[in-house]
Amino acid sequence: MDKPLIPQYLMDYINNLVPPRLPEMQAMEDDAEKTGFPIIGPASGYLCYQVARMLGARRVFELGSGFGYSTAWFARAVAENGGGEVYHVVWDGELSRQARIHLAALGYADIIRYHVGEAVQTLRETAGPFDLIFNDINKEDYADSLPVIADKLRRGGVLIVDNMLWHGRIFDAKDKTPATQSVRKLTELLTRSPDWIATLVPVRDGVIVAYKV
Ligand SMILES: C[S@@+](CC[C@H](N)C(=O)[O-])C[C@H]1O[C@@H](n2cnc3c(N)ncnc32)[C@H](O)[C@@H]1O
Repeated sequence: MDKPLIPQYLMDYINNLVPPRLPEMQAMEDDAEKTGFPIIGPASGYLCYQVARMLGARRVFELGSGFGYSTAWFARAVAENGGGEVYHVVWDGELSRQARIHLAALGYADIIRYHVGEAVQTLRETAGPFDLIFNDINKEDYADSLPVIADKLRRGGVLIVDNMLWHGRIFDAKDKTPATQSVRKLTELLTRSPDWIATLVPVRDGVIVAYKV
């Protein structure tokens, strides 16, 4: 059931509403397209940037960073909000290395804190609070990551989670894989709890934007 959920013409239309990116970011998008690396893409990236600007975010923690594309959107917001820090956390040393090159070229070297390791454990060991936390780790770990995230996010902070439509697998009742079950469970936890005001925004593969009450 891995067909695109959003019709291509609609996704193209929404992506084309995003203002032109710097050549370095455009190159990252082209690279992801070529290699099939799963970046958040322009429309969801711009949504992350917009939320971070609206919130005035100065401390952002990213779980499951890649080669720095989503990080670049958060870093841009934090820079424009007056400066602060964005945690780039991934367990692949090579991706961390590539991210350092891209994010330095974009002028964000002073803002990013790089960690190579398991993201939830790194968050557990990092002093909060954060204004915004972005989650893009392996989907089977989504539900279990929530208590740590809730603990480190300030009241009035925002959690953004990617892939909450999980390529449509959530709609397949026969799919009981740990990843799909975990996406379903996190959706329920965020949308059924009085502790969160959460909306699933159906851009690309679905992004949940959750405000911590
Ligand atoms: C979907 S990609 C990240 C894309 C990135 N957020 C972007 O849009 O540019 C997720 C990355 O996080 C790594 N990852 C997955 N689970 C992780 C975890 N629990 N801790 C650290 N890294 C993790 C994966 O190996 C992969 O490189």
